[in-house]
Amino acid sequence: MSSSNHNQMRRGAFATRIGAIATAVGSAVGLGNIWRFPYEAGTNGGGAFLIIYLFFIAIVGIPLLCAEFAMGRDSRANAVKTFASLTGRKSMGAVGVMGIVASVLILSFYSVVAGWTIEYTIISFSRGFKSTDVETLHSLFNSSIASPAKSLFFTWLFLLINYFALARGVRKGIERLSNLLMPVLFLILIVFCVNSLMLPDAGRGLRFLFAVDFSQVSVTTVLSAMGQAFFSLSIGLGCMLTYGSYFKDSTIIPRTAVSIASLDTLVAILSGIIIFPAVFSFGMSPTAGPTLVFETLPAIFGAMAGGRILAPLFFILLFIASLTSTISMSEISISFCTEQFGWSRKKASAAVIGLSMALGGLCALSFGPLANFKICSLTVFNLFDFASSNVLLPLGGVCASLIAGWAYPRSRLAAQLSLTGNKLFSVIRFLLRYIIPFCILLIFINSL
Ligand code: TRP
Repeated sequence: MSSSNHNQMRRGAFATRIGAIATAVGSAVGLGNIWRFPYEAGTNGGGAFLIIYLFFIAIVGIPLLCAEFAMGRDSRANAVKTFASLTGRKSMGAVGVMGIVASVLILSFYSVVAGWTIEYTIISFSRGFKSTDVETLHSLFNSSIASPAKSLFFTWLFLLINYFALARGVRKGIERLSNLLMPVLFLILIVFCVNSLMLPDAGRGLRFLFAVDFSQVSVTTVLSAMGQAFFSLSIGLGCMLTYGSYFKDSTIIPRTAVSIASLDTLVAILSGIIIFPAVFSFGMSPTAGPTLVFETLPAIFGAMAGGRILAPLFFILLFIASLTSTISMSEISISFCTEQFGWSRKKASAAVIGLSMALGGLCALSFGPLANFKICSLTVFNLFDFASSNVLLPLGGVCASLIAGWAYPRSRLAAQLSLTGNKLFSVIRFLLRYIIPFCILLIFINSL
């Protein structure tokens, strides 16, 4: 066995190509697609937002996804070591460290929302949402997120479920779970799609989502479409880089990246197709924003035929989508701890999940006892969200694309992408060197 093969065996690798895709799609498809995309599109000009979003997925998302996979598979190491070794400078490992810090912050607040999905699954299974009145559901939601015992319990429960999957390893834990859950996720999506399209007045919802209205497009719309593309594809933090390090040598990276980006976008659009026809059909407001899923939808389920069954199914869908995403966020730090400190997988998983339980606990309490505890006038939950999504994510994206474009030897990048001597390669490299860093810097400056 060659030493690189041996190394690969020791650090874990995905067993099959389908498993690798399922796992990366699992990372990409999350609350960002089902919860955030529909309301962003709904409030930002519908079809116009979608067109801009697709443009960024194509010119920023796919090239950077390719670059992350390529760098990870080339070095077969965690993000910190990868950035240091590809640039030949130890200090560049800091880019990986930034990714680790950001992913732990995202993991902490994301788990709180994921905890709500568990609570709402249980509520919808047991007593259901009897009310169809949005006000009543608003107070139900507010009282559950404000209760310290409930929030802590569900946030921690969610993180513990992550621990059990993570501790089993890349192949037996992460890949196996994704192979099981991703088909379930797509099945549930199809059930909802059919149901939504059969509702009376479904056409109005579709028109709201797809009608192209450029008059609603502002600079902020363009920038939020780009931010959404980043978050949705899980790029910028070394998350996909870490998964790339588990890819087989025979995996064709550009094709895989295109499949992942397409499936991710498909799920985002399907979520819009599921949500808006229902919203219009039941005379609700499509612009409720973040509370759309936890207040508007339960009201709709309360009124819908079959809502008693569909409601739990919907929250299970959100739960599955969240779980495979948080697993990928944790894996960045776990691969670092096992390789850098020589910790066992169990110990590293316990450390990462333990830290997230402590920080996630603070986020969970930000809607109750810690509501008035503010740093820079933000609650802990909002601070973590802001610092990671608006600062560290774009910054990580700039660094990753500059490193891939300038420091990573051209021939090695081309070889990893199986694009040696291909014109397409020059396009991708040009995007990585100039266009992507420039675009991201724009989001960054705007968001501050
Ligand atoms: N893409 C996931 C979503 O849409 C979130 C996510 C998972 C993520 N891993 C990430 C975002 C890494 C940024 C970086 O919900």
